[in-house]
Amino acid sequence: GLKKKEVHVLCLGLDNSGKTTIINKLKPSNAQTQDIVPTIGFSIEKFKTSSLSFTVFDMSGQGRYRNLWEHYYKEGQAIIFVIDSSDKLRMVVAKEELDTLLNHPDIKHRRIPILFFANKMDLRDAVSSVKVSQLLSLENIKDKPWQICASDALKGEGLQEGVDWLQDQIQ
Ligand code: GTP
Ligand code: MG
Repeated sequence: GLKKKEVHVLCLGLDNSGKTTIINKLKPSNAQTQDIVPTIGFSIEKFKTSSLSFTVFDMSGQGRYRNLWEHYYKEGQAIIFVIDSSDKLRMVVAKEELDTLLNHPDIKHRRIPILFFANKMDLRDAVSSVKVSQLLSLENIKDKPWQICASDALKGEGLQEGVDWLQDQIQ
């Protein structure tokens, strides 16, 4: 068949936000793993959409590994940034990491699309995606296309809608 266009995506966000769970759910069911453990360093994953072949750098969100993120910024053609919508205490840490990302010289002046997942919507403590976008001041991102989608990665809800948006940005 036709060769799909290849796109490099960086999957970023704090530890325990659900990055690996989301990427796993985007794979065909026979390629999904059952046991997901905290990522050490990073892991390279692949999944396809109707027209694109995504290579994902699924980065660890743990504090000690976050300094690895910037080494992959140049390579990234799109960003998936995942937030645990129920983790109100660390929302400010997520905002700090996002602001550092947006101000990085390898990101700052590029029109790179950013897809935000307000994940763990199934939890009782979760705030809405509108609230997450307010807490992260997403309205201040004016030079890049961005979208926020509420998701429940355990059930796979909200993921397709986000990835469809990302695909549209890249065509
Ligand atoms: P690091 O690799 O450490 O950066 O974490 P991560 O962002 O990759 O998180 P991971 O996918 O490992 O998920 C962390 C925990 O959150 C796991 O126990 C997941 O099952 C759980 N989890 C992920 N998404 C959801 C969700 O939408 N809802 C709920 N309730 N739990 C979720
Ligand atoms: Mg992970």
